[in-house]
Amino acid sequence: MQTAEDILAEVLVSEAQLRQRVHELGEQITRDYAGQDLLLLCILRGGVMFLTDLMRQIRTPHAIDFMAISSYGVGARASAGNVRVILDINQSIENRHVLVVEDIVDTGHTIHAVLALLAARQPASLKICALLDKSSRREVEVPIHYVGFDIPNKYVFGYGLDVDEYYRNVPYIGVVKPEVYLKPEAE
Ligand code: IMP
Ligand code: MG
Repeated sequence: MQTAEDILAEVLVSEAQLRQRVHELGEQITRDYAGQDLLLLCILRGGVMFLTDLMRQIRTPHAIDFMAISSYGVGARASAGNVRVILDINQSIENRHVLVVEDIVDTGHTIHAVLALLAARQPASLKICALLDKSSRREVEVPIHYVGFDIPNKYVFGYGLDVDEYYRNVPYIGVVKPEVYLKPEAE
C-alpha cells in the first residue's frame, strides 16, 4: 500500500495553518453561541478530526453528537446526488442551537440533505461549520456560516478526509497526485 507521501502532490494546508484557523473558528463560535444550548453535530467520518480539535477551542459549554451519511452510488468521489442517513442521532434537537461540523462542502448535496432533515426537527437555530469549501464545485446553494478554507477544485486528503477510506490520520491537508486518482482499482 502506498504511503501518504507516495500519493501527495503538495501540501495545501499545513498543520500550523490548520491549528491557527481552527483556533480562530473556535473563538468566533465561542462568542456567537455564548449562553446558548449548543450541540455540535459532526458528520462522520471526515469531520472527526476537525470536531475534536475545534471543540477544544470552543470555550462555551456544548454537547456533541454524530451522524453518518452515505452518498448513493459507487465511489466516495462520486457526486452525492442522492444522500442516505446511515447513522442518525437519537436525541432531540428541538429548541437547541445546532452547528453541523463537516469536513468539506463540495457539490453541496450532502449538506443540503442534512439541513433539510434537521430543519424539520425544529432546532432553535441550524448552522454549518465546514473546514473546507470547494465553492467552485457547488451544484446546490447551501449557506455555510463558518468556513476554514476555500480551496480549489482538487482532490484532497488528510485531517479526516480520505482517499478510499485511508490516510484520514495525516495531520495536514494534501492534494492527491492525479495519477493516484486515475489509477485502476487493482494493483
Ligand atoms: P458533496 O455532497 O458533493 O458536497 O460532498 C461532500 C462529501 O464528499 C464530503 O463530506 C466528503 O466526504 C467528500 N469529498 C468531497 N471532496 C472531497 C475531497 O477532495 N477529498 C475527500 N473527500 C471529499
Ligand atoms: Mg468521504
